[in-house]
Amino acid sequence: MKGLVVSKKLPLEKEKIVELVKVYDTPLFVILRERLIENFLAFTRFLPGVQPFYAVKANPHPEIIRTLDTLGSCFDVASKQEVQLVHELGIGPERMIFANTIKRKKGLAFAREIGLKLMTYDNLNELYKIQKVHPEAKLLLRITSPSNGSGANLSYKFGVDPEEALFLLLRAREMGLQPVGVSFHAGSPCYQVESYLVSLQAVRKIFSEARQSGIELSIVDIGGGFPLKIYQEEGEQRSLESLASKIYSHIESFLQEGYRVIAEPGRCIVGSACFLVTKVIGKALRRGKVWYYLDEGIYGSLSAIPFDKASPEFVPLREGNGLQEAILAGPTCDSLDVIAKDVLLPELGLDDLIVVPDIGAYSIASATNFNGFEKPTVVMV
Ligand SMILES: Cc1ncc(COP(=O)(O)O)c(C=O)c1O
Repeated sequence: MKGLVVSKKLPLEKEKIVELVKVYDTPLFVILRERLIENFLAFTRFLPGVQPFYAVKANPHPEIIRTLDTLGSCFDVASKQEVQLVHELGIGPERMIFANTIKRKKGLAFAREIGLKLMTYDNLNELYKIQKVHPEAKLLLRITSPSNGSGANLSYKFGVDPEEALFLLLRAREMGLQPVGVSFHAGSPCYQVESYLVSLQAVRKIFSEARQSGIELSIVDIGGGFPLKIYQEEGEQRSLESLASKIYSHIESFLQEGYRVIAEPGRCIVGSACFLVTKVIGKALRRGKVWYYLDEGIYGSLSAIPFDKASPEFVPLREGNGLQEAILAGPTCDSLDVIAKDVLLPELGLDDLIVVPDIGAYSIASATNFNGFEKPTVVMV
C-alpha cells in the first residue's frame, strides 16, 4: 500500500469520464468494450490454437460474458451460480469447464442437468462424488505447479503432485469414469516462465505414463495466471506477449501432435479493460497527514487490494503542481478500510474525482455492501 505513484494516464478522455459521472454518479465502474475485445483477440494471437475459457470468477458481469461470447470464447465456471449465469446467457455446456476441483453436489447435479461435462478434480473423494452425482463427466486431473514468484500460489490449496497423477487417473478409470486430460494453474498472476515450462513437462510425462497404462489423454489445460499487461513495453518483462513468446513452442508441440490445448485466462482478459471512478467525500488532517475519504474502498470494488495484493494507481482528474503525500481511505467505519498510504496527489477538495485504472479483475467480483454502502454502478462504454 506504500509508495504508489500518480500516473497521468487516464483510460478514457477526461471529458468523457466527467460526462459519465454526470449521468451515473460515483462510485462508477466502467468496462471498456473495445479494450476487452482487444485483450481477448491478443490472447488468441499470442497463443494461436489455444482455446480460451474466460475465468468468470475474475469478473462475472453479464456484459463481459456477452461480449466474449460474440468472440467465440468458452468459459471457466467455478460454482452452480456461475454455471447458471453462463447458461442463462445462452452459452452451450460444451463451451464451459467446471474448473473447481472441489465442487458442491448441487453444482455437479446442475452441471449434469444442463449437459456440462468437462471438469477438473484432484483427489479421490471428489471422484466418489462425481461418480455418484455426475458419472458422465469428462475429467481433467489438476496437478500442482511450482508457482514461483506468483501473486497467489494456487497450488497451495489445489492440485495433486505430478508423481501421484497416474494413481488418480487409474482410479478414475477403475471407477468407470472418463479421464481426458491434465490441468494446472501456474499462480495468479504468474511472471515465471519456468512455472509453465515445468508444468508442461510434467503433463508430457503424465500423458506418456497414462498411455502405457492404456489411458489416452487428449486435453492439456494450461490454466490462467497470464499478466494483466498485454503488450511488451521496453524494459518490461511482465506481459502476456513476453510470456507467450517464451512458452508457445512447448504448447505448439502438443498442438502439432493433435492434442487439444485450452486455457482459463481471467486477469489478462479483463484486468486492463475496466476502471473505477471514485469521489472524495471527506477530508481530514490527522497527525500531520492529509486523509481523503473516498466513496469506494476495500469492502467495495477495491477489494483487489487486500484479496489480490493489487497496488493500483490513482489518477486525480484535478491537475496541480504541489504534490503532497496523502492517505486514501474507504467510506466504511472499519479502520482496515485504508486504500493506500503515501500517495502523491495535488491538493484535492470534496467532490474531486479520482480514477483507478486496470481494476477489472478480482475487484467488483468480491465487492460487498458492508456498512450499507452500495456497490458501484457498472457501465460498459
Ligand atoms: C481454476 C482457475 N482457473 C483460472 C483462474 C484465472 O486465473 P487468472 O485470472 O490468473 O488468469 C483461476 C484464478 O483463481 C483459477 O482458480
